[in-house]
Amino acid sequence: MVTQRTPLIAGNWKMNLDHLQAIAFVQKLSWSLTDVAHDFEQVEVAVFPPFTDLRSVQTLISGDKLELRFGAQDLSQHESGAYTGEVSGAFLSSLGSHYAIVGHSERRQYHGETDAEIGAKAAAAVKNNIVPVICVGETAEDLAEHGPSAVPAGQLREILTSLTPEAEIVVAYEPVWAIGSGQAATPEQAEEVCGVLREVIAEGLGDDAAAATRILYGGSVKSDNIASFMRETNIDGALVGGASLQLEEFVRIVQFKKHVGV
Ligand code: PGA
Repeated sequence: MVTQRTPLIAGNWKMNLDHLQAIAFVQKLSWSLTDVAHDFEQVEVAVFPPFTDLRSVQTLISGDKLELRFGAQDLSQHESGAYTGEVSGAFLSSLGSHYAIVGHSERRQYHGETDAEIGAKAAAAVKNNIVPVICVGETAEDLAEHGPSAVPAGQLREILTSLTPEAEIVVAYEPVWAIGSGQAATPEQAEEVCGVLREVIAEGLGDDAAAATRILYGGSVKSDNIASFMRETNIDGALVGGASLQLEEFVRIVQFKKHVGV
């Protein structure tokens, strides 16, 4: 049986837009998607604003009954207590945060996050009914040394040891060399790695989890390359950074089915 996976287009805002800008952006995004009669059942859309914006975004989304989802860009592996500066999954959950990104390469690079910590964060998300968006990917040096899939597969393998098969997760393959560089992976390259990642999920969590889990590609996704990624069997959406802050461009990415011509 073929499992239908609803494509997910996720906008990672990184450290951009304050809460007032976030309200204006989400409002305009919603209007634009309404204008193009976007069907959220066909393609799910989520935004990942900074922590300080989440309450404002939640109030807008729930007040106006928007079909957009939102998530945090990180969360603590701890529930509560003496962890200055951290934000718990329980707090995010009570704010209605559907997702939380864990293990983004910028967290790995600037905050030294390890796969063990990222696994603990993913488990903390699941415990609080938040779907973790688990990021993995190789640097340019890893690529030269080990080829495309060895490093992301190894990262995911370790992270999955913290999870059980019932947990809903999303995996994002983001080659570090492709992030913010304008140099996206080729669809064939991305498909090869995403196929390997699906096998890793099958090994770690079983075939049902592998069939159900959405695997996103991220790294210089734009409206002119999204369709080529979405044609691939193992790519179920995109984690979009820079282009998610450009309203019209993001709407065009969300509308990828129009470019695919199906
Ligand atoms: P980019 O970022 O789309 O700007 O390359 C992707 C990401 O970091 O998630």
